[in-house]
Formats: sequence, structure tokens, C-alpha cells
Amino acid sequence: MNTPARIPLIIAHRGASGYLPEHSLAAKALAHGMGADYLEQDIVASRDGALLILHDLWLDDVSDVAERFPQRMRDDGHFYCIDFDLAEIRTLRFGERINPVTGVEKYPNRFPRSAGTFGVVTLDEEIRLIRGLNSSTGRQVGIYPEIKSPEWHTKQGLDLPSLVIDALDQHGYLEEGSRIFLQCFDADTLKKIRQRSGPDLPIIQLLSSGTSVDESLLREISDYADGIGPSIKLILRAFNTDGHHDVSDLVSMAQAVGLQVHPYTFRLDDLPQNCDSLDSLLQIFIDQLGVDGVFTDFTDLVTKFIRH
Ligand code: G3P
Ligand code: CA
Repeated sequence: MNTPARIPLIIAHRGASGYLPEHSLAAKALAHGMGADYLEQDIVASRDGALLILHDLWLDDVSDVAERFPQRMRDDGHFYCIDFDLAEIRTLRFGERINPVTGVEKYPNRFPRSAGTFGVVTLDEEIRLIRGLNSSTGRQVGIYPEIKSPEWHTKQGLDLPSLVIDALDQHGYLEEGSRIFLQCFDADTLKKIRQRSGPDLPIIQLLSSGTSVDESLLREISDYADGIGPSIKLILRAFNTDGHHDVSDLVSMAQAVGLQVHPYTFRLDDLPQNCDSLDSLLQIFIDQLGVDGVFTDFTDLVTKFIRH
């Protein structure tokens, strides 16, 4: 039995997206059954203010929008969610992520694009699914919503953070002890949410791979957040061909100021250069560095690693 320094939370990144199309209800149900602690929701808005569980601001890569509404393409070549009402988006067929120009699947060994069709999911629908599964299985799995591009939504005329917080409030997730982490890349958005909701709503500051992080920034983040969600590239600098690896001190620095560390994203089919297996990667982050959580497309494999 593996005994890591701390048992990390398993956060199902877009669901069990290694096996079923990202953010489909099927992917969320599978991840729940595989043992995830939290299920992730990326959230964007439709024109009529519906909260959609989708990663991109546009529909191009995961749906047949280009065939169904060719006249709705913007000058930049994208079909934006916010240019469609929910009723229109519900008529689209969703599937595995592709390059919309070439039609090639991003992850060719995942669920075949041709094998099934899926529909868009709203935040309300996903919460109902999770609560239903929590009831039927007795496992209390949490939600991990991300507010996508809040400034962009504001410029389009929609206050996405307020819509999300209101919805979470209606579902009772702002109450103390709720199983939730709220995540966003935008610090100003998170600071405003902390002011409005107080410390009962756990907040994660996402950090992209290009972010310059030092102790001063981490102390600032600790004033309004409970943890960071860094790209794994901010921690694993290099995996050398001789099997050695070079890591930063971000995990220990963040934990020293009281921040949890939930790096993203652990994928069997998208490993860092020279890394030979997902287990090797998990060994560094979980056994050696002691992270507090991991975002993964492969909940089953992380569960198995922790239990081995
Ligand atoms: O939210 C954690 C991770 O998902 C951030 O990156 O682009 O996959 O949403 P992204
Ligand atoms: Ca995300």
C-alpha cells in the first residue's frame, strides 16, 4: 500500500474525460464511479445568460455548430457560445474534441467522435446529477466550478461571476462546510468573490504556466484564496532523458503560507517530455512533493496509484 505524505484530492478534470467526451454527463457519472473527490465544471454563458459547462468560449471544437449555423461565425472564425441562446445550443450535437479545421481528434485514442452524440449540460443539470449520485452511492463528491474569462464576458455584457455565485447560492454551496472549490485565473474576480461570500467558500487561484510566482505573490494570494491551481509546468521544470527531474520549490513555498496546491493536468496520453509513465509523474507530485490535490483526465489511474 502506497503511503504518500498526504492523500491528495482527486479532481476529475472535465469528468472522466480520458474515456468520454469532456463535460458530458456521462463523463461526470463515470468519474464519480471511479472514485473522484471533486468533479470539475468549466463555466461559460450563453446569450440568454444560461450557465453552460463548456471549456471554450466558442463551440467549434466540441460540436457541429459550423454545419448547423454557418452564418453565425464571427470574423475571427469562431462560433461563440454567447452569440447563441440555450435553446439553440441544445440542438447541437457534442462529442470528443477535434481540430475544427482538419477534423482530427485531439486525443485519437479517446472516445471515438463517431461513436455517440452528447448534448450541452447546464450547471443546474450537472449539480442535480452529482447530488443524485451522492444520494444513490452514499459518496459525497464535491463540485469544482471555474469561472471562464470573466473580463471577456463583462465586455460582452454579461456579469458571469455574479451569475455563477447566485446559482451556487441557490443550490446551497455558499454554506459553511459545502464540498466545493471555486476556481478562476482572474485574481480581481476572486478577490471580489471573497469579499462578497466570505471565507466559507473555498477559493483556488489558478496559475498558468507563464506566471512568475514568488513568495510575495503567494502571500498576496493567501489573503483571498485557500489554494493555488498551478500548471504542472510551474513545478516540474524538466524531465531529463537520464530519468532525473528538476522541480521548483513552489509546492513547499505555497504550503508554507497556508495554501493548498492542486496542479493541473495529469493525463496518460499527454505526458511531459521524456516522462515515461503517468505513475512516474504521480510519484513526483504525490509521493515526493506532497501536493494536496490533482486535476486529472484519468481518475481511475490516480485512484489506483494512491491505493497501490
Ligand atoms: O482548471 C484547471 C485547469 O482546467 C485549468 O486549465 O484550460 O483546462 O481549464 P483549463
Ligand atoms: Ca478548468
